[in-house]
This record gives sequence, C-alpha cells and structure tokens, in this order.
Amino acid sequence: MASVKLEGVKKIYDNSVVAVQEFNLDIKDKEFVVFVGPSGCGKSTTLRMIAGLEDISEGKLFIGDRLVNDVEPKDRDIAMVFQNYALYPHITVYENMAFSLRLRKMDKEEIHRRVLQAADILGITQYLGRKPKALSGGQRQRVAIGRAIVREPQVFLMDEPLSNLDAKLRNQMRAEIILLRKRLDTTFIYVTHDQTEAMTLGDRIVIMKDGFIQQVGTPQEVFDTPHNLFVAGFIGSPQMNILDAELTKNGDKYTAETLGYKVELDEKKCQLLNENGASSMKVLLGFRPEHAVVHFEKIENSIEGTLLVNEMMGSELHLHVQTQNDQKIILRIPTIDLTEEQRASLTYGNKLHFSFASKVVQLFNPETEQSLLYR
Ligand SMILES: Nc1ncnc2c1ncn2[C@@H]1O[C@H](COP(=O)(O)OP(=O)(O)OP(=O)(O)O)[C@@H](O)[C@H]1O
Ligand SMILES: [Mg+2]
Repeated sequence: MASVKLEGVKKIYDNSVVAVQEFNLDIKDKEFVVFVGPSGCGKSTTLRMIAGLEDISEGKLFIGDRLVNDVEPKDRDIAMVFQNYALYPHITVYENMAFSLRLRKMDKEEIHRRVLQAADILGITQYLGRKPKALSGGQRQRVAIGRAIVREPQVFLMDEPLSNLDAKLRNQMRAEIILLRKRLDTTFIYVTHDQTEAMTLGDRIVIMKDGFIQQVGTPQEVFDTPHNLFVAGFIGSPQMNILDAELTKNGDKYTAETLGYKVELDEKKCQLLNENGASSMKVLLGFRPEHAVVHFEKIENSIEGTLLVNEMMGSELHLHVQTQNDQKIILRIPTIDLTEEQRASLTYGNKLHFSFASKVVQLFNPETEQSLLYR
C-alpha cells in the first residue's frame, strides 16, 4: 500500500505539445481517486507518467516516500489495467493471469495461490481453463483485472477499463469495482471521461481540462460547489442550466434577477459574495434541472418558458424549455405526483412557469468563469 504524490508535474510531447501542466496532487494510502475530463485533457498521459510508461518532463512523482521519476515501470510496484485489455489469445485464462508472475520467476505454488485467489475475488474460477475467445466481454475484462490483482501491487492504475463494455455490463462492472476496492483495500487511480463513473467510484475526483486540473474534491463537493463554469457543466446530468442574470448588492445583501424572476440570496451566499468582493454586476446564474419548481399556473415572480420537448424517463420527465430570451434549459420533474391534467398540459408549445430557491443557485463571473460562491 502506498500514497502517490505529484508535484508540479508537466508533460510536453515532442518538445511542442503540452499535454499536462501544473499537476499537483496528494493521493493518500488506500484512497480511490478518479481523473475525469473530456477527450484529450491529459488523463491517460498523467496515468502513464505515474506508471512510468511516459517520461515526466518537469516536476516530481513520489510513490510512498520514494522519488520515482527515474524508476523503471517494473520497479514501481504498480499494476495497470487498460481499456483494450489485450489478453494473450492462445493461452488459457489461468496462464494469462500467471504470465507476469512467471516472468518474474515466482515460485509455482505462490503463483497458483495468487491466481486462485484473484479468480475467486472476481468470480471467474470456472473459466480458468478456457481461452479468452470463449469468454464474454465482461468476463475478459475481469481476467484483465485479474492479471493486475495477482501482482498484489501497491497502486492500481486503471485507464477507462469499462469503456469497451455495453451500458448494462458497465453498470454491473462498476459495482464490482466498488466491491473489489473494498476487498483489496489498496490505492486506486482510475481514469474515465464518464462523470457518472467518476461520481460513483471516487473518494475524490480530479476534474481536468486542457491539461490543467480544474478542481479536486469529493463527489459531493464538486457537485455542490463547482469552482468554475466548466466543472458546473461537466458534473451532473443533464447538465446545469445557465442563465444571464443581474446581481444587485444592497448593503451586505444580494439579489439576483433573471428573466423577471428575483431571488433574494440567503445569508450564507451573501457572506461568500461579500468575501469574494462581488459588486452589482452581470453574472451567469446556474441551477440544476432537478432543482427547479414547475408551476402549472402563472404565479408572481417566476420565469415563463415554452415547452419544446417532453422526454418521458419513467420516474421523471425531462422538460426542454425555451425562455423568453431564447435561452434553452432543462427541467426535471418527478412523474409520481402529477395529475392527469398536469401531464396533459406538458405538450409542445404550451407555456409553463418555474422558479428556484436561493440555496440551489450558483453564480459565476462571466469574464473569468470562476464561481463567485467559492471560498
Ligand atoms: N504520444 C503522443 N505524442 C504527442 N502528443 C500526444 C501523445 N499522446 C497524447 N498526446 C496529446 O496529449 C494530449 C492529452 O492526451 P491524453 O491521451 O492524455 O488525453 P485523455 O484525457 O486520456 O483523452 P481520452 O479521453 O481521449 O483518452 C492530447 O492533446 C493528445 O493529442
Ligand atoms: Mg485516455
């Protein structure tokens, strides 16, 4: 078991492409950290530097207390699982899992013990005698994870290990990785571009964009207090609605107004705005689709919108609404309490009204795109 520490890590490919920069992160022993971000943001590059598969252009990498910048991958005591888990097709599952241990000239009995134990953890004992082509995608992925487990590494690195699987299997394997983590109780660094996977797996999430860390926090923290507009949009599905708004300061108090809807900001938000030196100014106001209240008749102090699309999701509806100034937003409402009449009214072209409370409001500086509510 081990901690992993990155200090000012930077990667420049071919003296020109800057793939990762100013990467500072302290991963605790036994922590499960997820790197998440859009394609090309530098997730795999960072993971590959930790694995030793890429040189570090600048900065320091520690595994435990040891500076490992110049340590060979095989001497770093890590194991990595890739997206395209190339198994050796001509040998059995057992031999696939034993392969790296045999290379190390490990004792036969020890190899046997480790393979059986890993197979048991992953529920693939009955397939040990088969060749990979006689397995399903999910079973093959388990073998790939098994190959990493048998090495009993201090740190597990996983680069999009589930992205080759179909949606259902991916959900199932996600739950299995959570259980696996409990059983192995070691340090995990997991890369994905899927925010749901990041939220459900990570003790902490590192959100990246264009080679820079945007925010590091627990799933709850990054959901509740995104530091900038990018994180606000990236975490949560459907994504956070953003409206142009006007912030007004009156003494120590603040009010936000958008599309004729006025929301008095609560004490905590006012305090943060004051601390951040927010003045009366134009802002971007964010609220999540599930945090708005839909009113079926016109009420004072609400926003009017026109319904464009009503997506039936079973337990809830996703309403795509166009506001009076042509901004598009999404509202999520539970179906269980809707009357027949209300359901019938939710059709294309109909008007509806909605509002939201101060506590769900996010505010961003439109120029810097930074949160005005960030401490
Ligand atoms: N070997 C390489 N040579 C030059 N540039 C590279 C190399 N590998 C990656 N890059 C560039 O570095 C940047 C980061 O790539 P990286 O593979 O780390 O992204 P990623 O976040 O893993 O993306 P994805 O989600 O698509 O896997 C990209 O701009 C990519 O084009
Ligand atoms: Mg990648």
